[in-house]
Amino acid sequence: TARRPLIAGNWKMNGLRADGLKLVEGLIAHLREGDQPFDMLVCPPMTLVADVAAASTASTLLVGGQDCHQNEKGAHTGDTSAWMLKDVGATHVIVGHSERRADHAESSEVVKAKAGAAHAAGLTAIICIGETEDERDRGEALAVVSGQLLDSLPDGATPDNTVIAYEPVWAIGTGKTATPDDVAEMHGEIRKKAHEKLGSEANRLRILYGGSVKPANAEELLALTDVDGALVGGASLKVEDFWAIAKAAG
Ligand code: G3H
Repeated sequence: TARRPLIAGNWKMNGLRADGLKLVEGLIAHLREGDQPFDMLVCPPMTLVADVAAASTASTLLVGGQDCHQNEKGAHTGDTSAWMLKDVGATHVIVGHSERRADHAESSEVVKAKAGAAHAAGLTAIICIGETEDERDRGEALAVVSGQLLDSLPDGATPDNTVIAYEPVWAIGTGKTATPDDVAEMHGEIRKKAHEKLGSEANRLRILYGGSVKPANAEELLALTDVDGALVGGASLKVEDFWAIAKAAG
């Protein structure tokens, strides 16, 4: 099954208005160079989602949020609903990033509810899963990740409204990347497990790798059979680095 790569940038808590818009202008200029064999998505901080979406309307650049609340509206100070993201032009939202699981104690149950809300609002959910270093050292990586996948996937998930991002926690922002063999094994396992929920549709599911992806290692990682793109943190903040990663996809 041919899966179109998705190259997603997660800006995390970075970017004031001027920097964010400049970054997006640079990416749009590259996207206009011609048809590309990949989809490109940026997930700016909440303050910039509307501006970045407005700046991207006449381009193929996709825009998403980094999190959403599981409810549609109500008394949840500081939170943003999936419907609000959709309303300002987002098409995607990241849910269950390990930084949210750690900083905000989000369980897979909550992540599943958030992904369900994203679907109900008409957004594609990028569900993040990944083991910690301790879990890997104990030989539990495959079991932990499979468990997170099955617990975080909501009913109604399809390859059209859902993307999985495998991010080993110990590889995020550390400069350490999983070996290609480990990544290949894990992505194969994730697709196999996804069959339990999605049946043969799992063959169309996009599974991204994340964790210290940079121009120097992108080609090797993106060439792996079950790696259908990347979720990029640090290197997505520089136009040329992010573009080089995307070009490595095809
Ligand atoms: O969402 C992105 C990941 O957490 C990876 O971040 O590329 O800075 O390691 P990083």
